[in-house]
Amino acid sequence: MTIQIEQAARYINRILLQTPKVGLILGSGLGVLAEEIKDPVKVSYSDIPGFPASTVEGHAGQLVFGTLEGVNVIAMQGRFHFYEGYSLEKVTFPIRVMKKLGIEALIVTNAAGGVNTDLDPGDLMLITDHINNAGGNPLIGPNNTELGLRFPDLSTAYDVELQALAKRAAESLDIPLKEGVYVWNTGPSYETPAEVKMLRHLGGDAVGMSTVPEVIIARHAEIKVLGISCISNMAAGILDQPLTHHEVIETTEKAKDSFLLFMKEIISLYGQR
Ligand code: 6GU
Repeated sequence: MTIQIEQAARYINRILLQTPKVGLILGSGLGVLAEEIKDPVKVSYSDIPGFPASTVEGHAGQLVFGTLEGVNVIAMQGRFHFYEGYSLEKVTFPIRVMKKLGIEALIVTNAAGGVNTDLDPGDLMLITDHINNAGGNPLIGPNNTELGLRFPDLSTAYDVELQALAKRAAESLDIPLKEGVYVWNTGPSYETPAEVKMLRHLGGDAVGMSTVPEVIIARHAEIKVLGISCISNMAAGILDQPLTHHEVIETTEKAKDSFLLFMKEIISLYGQR
C-alpha cells in the first residue's frame, strides 16, 4: 500500500513544479472550479499508477494542479465512489497520495439530497459533522502506523477554524450558507421516503454517496478537512417528485456561480491566514 502511494506520488511529482497546500475534491457538477485554476497542469487518473479510472458521467477524471487566489492547489475533478464497485481503499487512495504530495488541508465538496426541510435545492451547506450510515470503513484491516493511528479521533472531523473561515467567506460575499450533518449512504439507488424520514430522526440534514470515506482517511492522515455540500435536490418523500441524476447536475449547474465565488473566497482567506 505505502509502495503504491509512493509510486503515484513520485509519478505526479515528476510533473509538478510546486507543493500543493490545499487539496480539493470536486463533486458531481462541481468540477467547474478546476477550470478556474491558473497555470493548470492536468494529469488524467488513468495515467497515474495505482489510480482507478473514473466512470460516472459529468466527471472528468483528472487531477488539476496550479493556483487559485495565489494558493497552490491540487484538485480532483471527479472522484471514485464506492457504488462504482471500487473498494474503500481505492476510493480513498487519492487522499493518501495528496497527503504524500504535501497538502495540509482538504476541501471536500459533493452534491447531496436535502433531508432537513429547512434546506432548499441550490443551497450551499457547511458540513459540521457526518453520519456513516453505510457501515463500511476505509480503515478496516491492518493499520499502517506510518499512515496514522489505529483508532483515529473523529470528534472534530470537520476543522473548526476552517468552518469559521468558510462562514466569513460566505458573509463577505453575501452568500447564504446553511449548516448541517451529512449522511453517507452507499447508493447507487436513492433512499426511500421511509429511509429519509429515519435519517431525519437520526440527526441527518443532507444525504449523499461520497465524502465520508475520504474524510476518514484525511483525518487518519491528520489533514484538516472542510466539507461543503451543494443541495442538488430534496431527498425522497419531501417533495412530491421523483429523483433523477439529471436534476442533480442541473441544480449544481445553477448554483455554480455562487459555488465558484465561495470556494475562491475560502481559498483566498486560507492563503492570507
Ligand atoms: Cl436524495 N440521496 C443520495 N444518497 N445521494 C444524493 C441524493 C440523495 N441527492 C444527490 N445525491
